[in-house]
Amino acid sequence: MTFLQDILEDPAVFAVRKLPARTSSWPSTRRVLPETEFLYDVDDWRLSLNDNWRFLWKNTVADVPDEVILPEYDDRAWDRMDLPANWETRGYGTPLYINSGFAFPPAPPKISSPAPEDHTITGEPNPTAVLRRTFRCPESWQGREIILYIGAAQTALAVHCNGQFAGYSEDSMGCAEFDLTPFCRDGENQLTLTVCKYSSASYLEDQDCWRLSGIFRDVFLYSRDRRHLADVVLAPEAETGTIRAEVMLSRAAEEAGCSWHLEYAGKASQDVVVIPDHRLWSAETPVLYTVTAVLTAPDGTVCDLRHFRTGFRKIAIREAVFYFNGQPIKLRGVNRHEFDPVRGRAITREGMLEDIRKIKLAHFDAVRCSHYPNHPLWYELCDRYGLYVCDEANIESHGMSYHRCILPGNDVAWFPAVCDRVRRMVRTNRNHVSVTLWSLGNEAGYGKAFEEAAKVIRELDPRPIQYADMNRVAEFDSQTYPPPEWLLQYLQGTAVRKSEQGKPSCAEQHGPQPTFKPFIMNEYAHAMGNSTGNFREYWEIMDQHPRLTGGFLWEWCEHGLLKEGVPSYGGDFGDKPNAGNFCLDGLVRSDRIPNPGYLECAHIQQPWSLRWAQAGKAVMITNKAFFKPWKALPVRWQVWENGVPVTSGEWRLDLPPRGTTVCLLPPLPDHGRMERYLRVQTVFGTRELPWDPAQEFFSAVPAANFLWQGCRIGEETGGPWLAEPCFDRVLTDNDIGCRFPARAEAAGNLRWYRAGAGRLLARLTWSLTTEPARVGLLLQLPSGVIDEVEWYGRGPHEAYCDRKCSALTGRYRMKGCNLDHPYTKPQESGQRCDVRELILRAESGAAVRITAPSLFGFTLRQYSPEVLRSARHAAELPVCGGTWYLHLDHMQRGVGGDDSWGSNVHPEYRINAPGAGTADFLFEIPADCPE
Ligand code: GAL
Repeated sequence: MTFLQDILEDPAVFAVRKLPARTSSWPSTRRVLPETEFLYDVDDWRLSLNDNWRFLWKNTVADVPDEVILPEYDDRAWDRMDLPANWETRGYGTPLYINSGFAFPPAPPKISSPAPEDHTITGEPNPTAVLRRTFRCPESWQGREIILYIGAAQTALAVHCNGQFAGYSEDSMGCAEFDLTPFCRDGENQLTLTVCKYSSASYLEDQDCWRLSGIFRDVFLYSRDRRHLADVVLAPEAETGTIRAEVMLSRAAEEAGCSWHLEYAGKASQDVVVIPDHRLWSAETPVLYTVTAVLTAPDGTVCDLRHFRTGFRKIAIREAVFYFNGQPIKLRGVNRHEFDPVRGRAITREGMLEDIRKIKLAHFDAVRCSHYPNHPLWYELCDRYGLYVCDEANIESHGMSYHRCILPGNDVAWFPAVCDRVRRMVRTNRNHVSVTLWSLGNEAGYGKAFEEAAKVIRELDPRPIQYADMNRVAEFDSQTYPPPEWLLQYLQGTAVRKSEQGKPSCAEQHGPQPTFKPFIMNEYAHAMGNSTGNFREYWEIMDQHPRLTGGFLWEWCEHGLLKEGVPSYGGDFGDKPNAGNFCLDGLVRSDRIPNPGYLECAHIQQPWSLRWAQAGKAVMITNKAFFKPWKALPVRWQVWENGVPVTSGEWRLDLPPRGTTVCLLPPLPDHGRMERYLRVQTVFGTRELPWDPAQEFFSAVPAANFLWQGCRIGEETGGPWLAEPCFDRVLTDNDIGCRFPARAEAAGNLRWYRAGAGRLLARLTWSLTTEPARVGLLLQLPSGVIDEVEWYGRGPHEAYCDRKCSALTGRYRMKGCNLDHPYTKPQESGQRCDVRELILRAESGAAVRITAPSLFGFTLRQYSPEVLRSARHAAELPVCGGTWYLHLDHMQRGVGGDDSWGSNVHPEYRINAPGAGTADFLFEIPADCPE
């Protein structure tokens, strides 16, 4: 395809005959749209072209014959393809997972420089697909315009209709519309789409994700009257409850003297609709109003009808605080890529619904469209179900420009493409009430290009802008992955901003420091593998400081792409270069099964709080919501003693947003040596408080107080099972990221003593030269010894000392083989911590009870640490049946989570070294058990 080869490497050519971006709205035949119907589904004048394509794939554009665009070209021998699709997931070409860097040797704007022999690009220099099909327009379309809508194509798309060139588009993550009217005829029409995987646009799309090609959103035709509403911008006014519209008419509509008006609930008004008793939209109260714009010819004929759904809200920044509807809200946000484990970026409606449901369930109230505008339906879901959206332009040049002024930087050759991307995002999505802030892109460095881009946004829309690589041009200050203490330094004006490597000043990037802006973390809490530690610490700080607007956790879902049924990562497809398992960094796996970090976020983000009042006779309950009152909300309380509930009751609470109330508890008898906890539960989740009000919510209770039956040590004896001191763990992704050593320099000695009838005491003495991952025992038990496990401690799910808030203290029972959490890339996992008592039960009923004078952790698996260490995928781990490996940990370091490329676990969650000590574990046969 010679003509394509000429323009692919020209950054100035990114849109030819591509229609200007406009709000997502579709010509309708109905005056009233049912509340349940999505705008995206208004297909009254639509013809889907998703199916029945003939498909040709070549590993380079040069191999595609020019004649494929001719209507008469014989494509009968070609394969077939249904859209939306990423070709790589259908067996055409190699999926390539790159974090920062390019598939090709970078030499902008060239994409065709020679690469090393073993790089994927060498065998697939520019995979190019040609799709051909025919279509017939319905008779009712006679005399109307015919528009081709392509939801997304990566990275360069050329359109030919009946052999004629109909348009060209770059920007993989936005829709492209082309007017096919001049090329269409009655009867059968032929359409050819050519998609090249790489183009100069690839330099602006260097996001950390699978590099895939395809047409991965819907393709359809729609028809519109020549006299139509070219664009409509709604301006709802929260103070007055009015919705005004600014309308652009097509030239034919203007020439014909057409007029327009708005309708609400079937009633017409002029250019302003007044909503009686209007309510404000927020993520907590997503109230929407559907209005219809009607375009009428002078003779009364209706030429165009478009539906819109909007809401009322006020956004303001005052004194460096971000206000939403007058409240200094927090964005409990998450970064979300569009990803499906089978289909790649060709996500489904069901997938989007599942995401929004699970995101909301974990009490996230905001989402960053990282790092590009999303599927149109996603914004409607956010409007409808309530999520504050940070909409981001599809601009990232991480591999060249992170914190640098290179590309686009000050290079005017790239300005038009950058501004076009930003403009298209705003024009397409500005009518969505959920869009709360705009982002200029991600990790694309700084320079005049972003001054221009910010200007483009401000001309179109008043919402605030964030862009962490160049805060100077944004209303928000933003920073990726600041540790919690950095936030405090930021508030004091002493924090050091991320800036270009080696440069002392960052004024050009971030403006003079300190700034006086609200602050947001565009990315934080990197959820890679066994992570999401110290999430509580972030929120303790954020909740206290109105200037901190919250942040977006990185990231929602893992990008494990299925290969023969196994979630796979960089390198698994023979792709090179690749960034390995760095794409497995989600709160949920790619099949959306939550990782334990998800539960921690869900727990910490619950919009209510609980604390002791009146010296333990009452609790103070706060509704942390900013907008939603509690109306007779059932709140159930339970008193737990030694891990079991003993008494309970219920309150029905009315509380205004941000309101607090004090609820009295009935007097309870003294609990003696029993450990007592209060659990309080509402629809949002459960909170717990240890009974002793003097005790800090999260501090550990010495187990000796209630369960350790200190014992008289007798003579030394052999142990019942193979056991050894253990100081190491199979490194987690975060351990590897901070270069934590795989082996500690430590020495341990384990001795067994008789401690009365049926009791053995294991005494571990240790000395540490370097910091270990754990201090404990590793025991090997024959497979028949354990069927079920019962413990009194944190549970039921995995918990570590810095990620345990969601694992409430109780008595739990579980099949031994269900304790592990299989991370997609295997690593240390499955611990239960703050354990007072552990009982291992065989099927026969025989049992062993393990206690210790202080809280301990245990991890039980049916494979050895070596097997875990060498497995690359969870599917390689044995499921059940072998020897049991039981870790009893006196201490284990936390999992960390500030990032996965250097930040260590926080000091308070690490084990001090050098040091020495002793730890005891008592093994006994419970009194009520057969031997
Ligand atoms: C950020 C980047 C993300 C992702 C993340 C690490 O710096 O913006 O796209 O790469 O790091 O997972």
